[in-house]
Amino acid sequence: MPKQVALVIGPTGATGGPIAKALGRRGDWLVYGMSRTAPAGKVPFTHLAADLTDPASCARALAAIEPVTHAFFAARAPFQEGGVENVEGNVAMLAATLDALEARSGGLEHVHLLEGTKWYGMHLGPYPTPSREGDPRHPPPNFYYDQQDLLSQRAAHARWSWSASRPSYICDFAPDRARNLITILGTYAALCRELGVPLDFPGTAAAYSVLCELSDATCLAEAIIFMSTHDAGRNTAFNVTNGDSFRWCQVWPLLAQWYGIPCGVPRHIKLATWMADKGPVWDKIVARRGLQRRSLESLASWDFADFVFEKEWDLLTDNGLLRRAGFNLCVDTIAMIRDQLNQYCEAKLLPR
Ligand SMILES: NC(=O)c1ccc[n+]([C@@H]2O[C@H](COP(=O)([O-])OP(=O)(O)OC[C@H]3O[C@@H](n4cnc5c(N)ncnc54)[C@H](OP(=O)(O)O)[C@@H]3O)[C@@H](O)[C@H]2O)c1
Repeated sequence: MPKQVALVIGPTGATGGPIAKALGRRGDWLVYGMSRTAPAGKVPFTHLAADLTDPASCARALAAIEPVTHAFFAARAPFQEGGVENVEGNVAMLAATLDALEARSGGLEHVHLLEGTKWYGMHLGPYPTPSREGDPRHPPPNFYYDQQDLLSQRAAHARWSWSASRPSYICDFAPDRARNLITILGTYAALCRELGVPLDFPGTAAAYSVLCELSDATCLAEAIIFMSTHDAGRNTAFNVTNGDSFRWCQVWPLLAQWYGIPCGVPRHIKLATWMADKGPVWDKIVARRGLQRRSLESLASWDFADFVFEKEWDLLTDNGLLRRAGFNLCVDTIAMIRDQLNQYCEAKLLPR
């Protein structure tokens, strides 16, 4: 029997899915995934149905399996009305998981928590960059603060250790995830080509030239497993991005070239509004190119696109702490974008 038993909480999500996949690839882990809805199709883990807002269901699910040695917390509660952070809900979900794990698993060794660069207030306005893990916190609310405080306090009185990761926007070949920059770039460029217009950048001139970074989902998953299984990862939070940076003004001419259209200029439009009537244009592309029949909204979240392209300040973290701990995998972001776009084309979800 494998010595290490993993529980991924949120195994069908943007970050949990790649963690479960990376653990599955190793072959020497027993991998469980806990969420409300059973995933469709083949997955690299045994699914446990539980609702983290119901602690009893969580305890019941864990009582039925081998004691967990490593837990990876990648679930999140929805925002409250008006986009307000759900601090209480997110903390309660983590607390329910820790209670159930501790009640069941004397052999628990490590709990990893997914955070993000919102830790530094990247969503609020300009902040000190490149940001380091020990930088001062922004004024609350921020559910990552409360979750990390809970986790570190619980670990201080236990035999297990903790770690946390702070990725930027996650990029992946993930056909069911509309909050994904890759499909946003691909559908936007294909629509501009279909409409016969140059590839304008939908943000301001300032947003076009700020520094930015992304997190490849597979690289992030590998970093998280590294933190969870090496002494250097114990009781520490780490920034995890691809290890390089870029400006949209460097990506845009390449994207235009890949789609065979002229590169345009920064022209600030709200994509959520501009795209509202583009469904039929997309459907025409789908029919003519023999793509899988998928609606535009199911491929690209334009609210998320606006959130990304409206940032007029640098988004940059320092990954030195992770490198010095011994994790050295890094990703060429431009090559990642091209490669993941190609995967969508091969799957007939995006046109070439
Ligand atoms: N996605 C990104 O680009 C990104 C970037 C940086 C940081 N992060 C951080 O990463 C963490 C995870 O986010 P994510 O984007 O990976 O989440 P996600 O894609 O929304 O997935 C959430 C996962 O949690 C499960 N879940 C949600 N509510 C649950 C409940 N009540 N009980 C049991 N399971 C539940 C979901 O499955 P069910 O709905 O079936 O239960 C799903 O598997 C968050 O803290 C987020 O801020 C994400």
